[in-house]
Amino acid sequence: MEPTFQTMQGDCIEIMRTLPDASVDLVLADPPYNIKVRGEEWDNLGAGYIDWMIEWLLEAQRVLKPNGVLYIWHNDMPQIARLLVAMEQRTNFALMSFCVWDKGQYHAQSWKNRDPDSDTAPRSWFNVCEYCMHFFNAPKDADSAWKHTGLDRINSNPECYRPIKDWYYAELDRLGITEEDVVERYRQATGKSGAMFRHYFKDSQFAIPTEAVWQAAFEPLGFDATPLLDIVKKPHGGGRSQTSPPQEDTTPCAAATTRCAKATKP
Ligand SMILES: C[S@@+](CC[C@H](N)C(=O)[O-])C[C@H]1O[C@@H](n2cnc3c(N)ncnc32)[C@H](O)[C@@H]1O
Repeated sequence: MEPTFQTMQGDCIEIMRTLPDASVDLVLADPPYNIKVRGEEWDNLGAGYIDWMIEWLLEAQRVLKPNGVLYIWHNDMPQIARLLVAMEQRTNFALMSFCVWDKGQYHAQSWKNRDPDSDTAPRSWFNVCEYCMHFFNAPKDADSAWKHTGLDRINSNPECYRPIKDWYYAELDRLGITEEDVVERYRQATGKSGAMFRHYFKDSQFAIPTEAVWQAAFEPLGFDATPLLDIVKKPHGGGRSQTSPPQEDTTPCAAATTRCAKATKP
């Protein structure tokens, strides 16, 4: 059945309160950064900013499924630092990683729009980045999860990336081959030892092969990535999608949209 989507507009906290517990796979937020962008009231939360962030984050935590993921955009390092400490202490979210969006020459525009009274005025003169932080909802081991490195966090939680791991074993079964066959193909194609290969799609030291490895070893043996791409695209209930019978997905899309229709970023 095709997933259904619903767009809801309003205050994000009020809207999330209408959603059931543990019903959401992913929350993606580009919240106010509290940098007084263009003098907007919504971006001037002052000293109450971190408390407000935690308020909506706790609601997001409630609606997210266990091990659901959260992505938050931000661009102001001092406030990111305060936010991370508050999240560690007051929520179950554990930081996994973050991406950097290098905006290149965007600094020219931010110089033009600079607010000399802003806490973040210095960024007007330097190349500007934004950061997309990636967390998972770790209800049982949130505290210990923060104490681990990123890889440990994945390894300490065997259910992380479970549908992708299941896809790998289902493909070995479908092709009637063992992992040793794939490693051997890789050795022949690359002349390298298969040591790294032992990490691909594993609970321990989970890794995904690079495109070159995929082409050298997996593709020639007939691995079919289509189900994997379906897993990535399709909302799932956290189950073992390759081995369980298909289930109706009734997950509401938590696309609580923001009130402002502006297309430009701060
Ligand atoms: C950093 S901007 C994101 C802009 C958006 N991603 C874009 O590119 O157009 C933060 C947005 O959060 C919205 N906002 C502020 N408080 C909100 C709230 N309580 N609930 C929902 N949206 C809110 C603001 O209107 C603003 O559009």
